[in-house]
Amino acid sequence: MPTPTDFSSPLYWSNRFESENSFEWLISDEDLLPFIQESLPSSFADDQKEDTEDVLNILHFGSGTSSLGPSFQHHLDTRQKGKGKAKQVQVYDSDYVPTPTTTSSSVVPFLLLDVLSLSSLMQNLPGGGEEKWNLVIDKSTCDAISCGGALSIDGPSIFEVGLDEEGRVIASISDPIERLLYNLSQVTQTGGRWISISYSSNRFDNYLSDWPSAHKQEHEKGHGDNEKEIKYGWILLKRQMISTTYIPSGRVVKDPRTGEERVVHEPETGVWMYVLERV
Ligand SMILES: C[S@@+](CC[C@H](N)C(=O)[O-])C[C@H]1O[C@@H](n2cnc3c(N)ncnc32)[C@H](O)[C@@H]1O
Repeated sequence: MPTPTDFSSPLYWSNRFESENSFEWLISDEDLLPFIQESLPSSFADDQKEDTEDVLNILHFGSGTSSLGPSFQHHLDTRQKGKGKAKQVQVYDSDYVPTPTTTSSSVVPFLLLDVLSLSSLMQNLPGGGEEKWNLVIDKSTCDAISCGGALSIDGPSIFEVGLDEEGRVIASISDPIERLLYNLSQVTQTGGRWISISYSSNRFDNYLSDWPSAHKQEHEKGHGDNEKEIKYGWILLKRQMISTTYIPSGRVVKDPRTGEERVVHEPETGVWMYVLERV
């Protein structure tokens, strides 16, 4: 039996990036950017007053060899042009292994960081460590992380985990997506958002229920009736199917033993966008 690929392994990704220079998971930049534009935090609104931050910072984590970071930066810069004293926006690509696509001269700087490590995130905060992210975004990075199963709760990670909403010490978070919810909550500004693109229709179901539309008007109060409405300061504002993956003619697969190729037909599957807001 062939061994299943471990998409959560840094070794897998660094080996892959030795020969892969460009690969886009799930959806193209062109198809995705209109959905991102519709879901930006209120601080990005054109009519936002000037007295807020000078620069809005965006962390694109698990960027791999995707072109989303530069395309998003270009999209935002183009929109800002001609708007007078427009706010500056800076996208950062990041991954836990070096990738071949980013260079130090790029318009999108690259940060080497592991989002499952709070200290790694804290060492790479924007504004020289003085600020938090206005927006974090991932495309299929959560999918890769969720392949890994329970995280070790030994070693340094146990010391990185801080206090919950009630000020209790959180001894450990071994579930990778829950660890990510916690870690990103610590480095994202209140009112900031996390846009997560996934093949899974239930990526956050174990942790968050959909924020009831009846509460949307008053969510700044930060109180949900149900304990799954707010997790580590996140609410799930939106879940939307934004595309489907379907190959009408089928997909060619190769038998690893014989090398023989055959066509398999698969059901249509969705590409999902989740919009979480830090309250
Ligand atoms: C499925 S690929 C998606 C790549 C890219 N976002 C795209 O859409 O084409 C998952 C990416 O997440 C990165 N990754 C996995 N675990 C990570 C972690 N703990 N911290 C940061 N990046 C991680 C991998 O190196 C890889 O680049």
